[in-house]
Amino acid sequence: MLEMFYRMPLPRRGDVSMGLLAGQVCIVTGAGQGLGRSVSLEMAAEGAKVMLLERNPATLHTVEAEVSAAGGISRSFDLDVTDYGAYGSVVDSIVREFGRIDVLVNNAAINPPARTILQDTLEDWRRTIAINLESVYMGSKLVAPHMVERKSGRIIHIASIQGFASSGEVGAYNAAKGGIITLTKSMAVELGPYNILVNAVAPGFMSTPMSIINGVNETETPEFLEWYVKKGKIPLRRTGYPEDVSGTVIFLASNYCRYMTGQLLVVDGGLMSTF
Ligand SMILES: NC(=O)c1ccc[n+]([C@@H]2O[C@H](COP(=O)([O-])OP(=O)(O)OC[C@H]3O[C@@H](n4cnc5c(N)ncnc54)[C@H](O)[C@@H]3O)[C@@H](O)[C@H]2O)c1
Repeated sequence: MLEMFYRMPLPRRGDVSMGLLAGQVCIVTGAGQGLGRSVSLEMAAEGAKVMLLERNPATLHTVEAEVSAAGGISRSFDLDVTDYGAYGSVVDSIVREFGRIDVLVNNAAINPPARTILQDTLEDWRRTIAINLESVYMGSKLVAPHMVERKSGRIIHIASIQGFASSGEVGAYNAAKGGIITLTKSMAVELGPYNILVNAVAPGFMSTPMSIINGVNETETPEFLEWYVKKGKIPLRRTGYPEDVSGTVIFLASNYCRYMTGQLLVVDGGLMSTF
C-alpha cells in the first residue's frame, strides 16, 4: 500500500558504494584550481567521468594527473569559456565520445581588481560580466539541449554571497553573481519540464588562489582573523575551504537531490546569518 508513495527508486546501498555519480558525465569549468579542482576530484572519486574545462593548461593537466593518480577518469579541454565557438566544439566532442552529459558545473570566474564605479572602465565591466555571467549562459545553452534529449540533467551554478550583499568595489562581480542567482530561477522554470534540475551554490569566504590579492591571502590577514574569526562574524569561526563547498555541489549533482530546483544553497559558515 505504502509503495504508491514511493514512485522513484531510492539509491541502493550498492549504488552508493559504487559512488554517488557512478558513470555520470560531468563538466566542470575552471577546473584547474580552487573550488573547480576540488569538485573535479570529488566527482571523480564518486565514479563520474569528469570533463575538465580550464583556460590555464598547466593547472588543467595537473588536475588531470591528480584524477588519474586517484584512479579516476577525466578528459581535459584547454578552453576559455567566453569563446562560444570553441565551447560548442568541446561540448560536441564530449557528446561524440560519451554520448551524454549528465551534469554541468558553471564554476569558472575571475575576481577583478577592487574598483568603484567611479574608478573602473566599461571594458573592466564587460570583461567581468563576460567571464562571470555570460559564460554561464553560454555553457548552459550549449549543454541543455543534450540534457533535454535524454530528459535528465543537472546544472549547478557557482554564485557567491556577493550576489546579494556587497563589500563595495566589486560592482561587476556582484552583478554577475546576482544575475546567476536569478538566472538559476529562470532556467529552473524553463528546464523543469525536461527533468533538468538547476540550482546554485553561494560560497562565503573561501581560501583559494582567488583569495590571494597582491600576494596576500585575504582570508589570513590580521583584520580578517580579528573580525570574522575571533569576533565570530563567521559563526563557525574559520574561513571556508574548497572541500567545504564541493560536497554541496556533489549533493546537487547526485540522486539525493531530486525534488529541488531553482534554489540557492548558501555555504558561508553562517556569515549571512549574523548582523
Ligand atoms: N574564493 C572565494 O572566496 C569565493 C567566494 C564565493 C564564490 N566564489 C566563486 O567560486 C568559484 C571558484 O572560485 P575559486 O575561488 O576556486 O577561484 P580560482 O581563481 O581559484 O579558480 C578559478 C578557475 O577558473 C579559471 N578561469 C577563469 N576564467 C576562465 C575562463 N575565461 N575560461 C576558463 N577558465 C577560467 C581560472 O583559470 C581558475 O583555474 C568562482 O565562481 C568564484 O566566483 C569564490
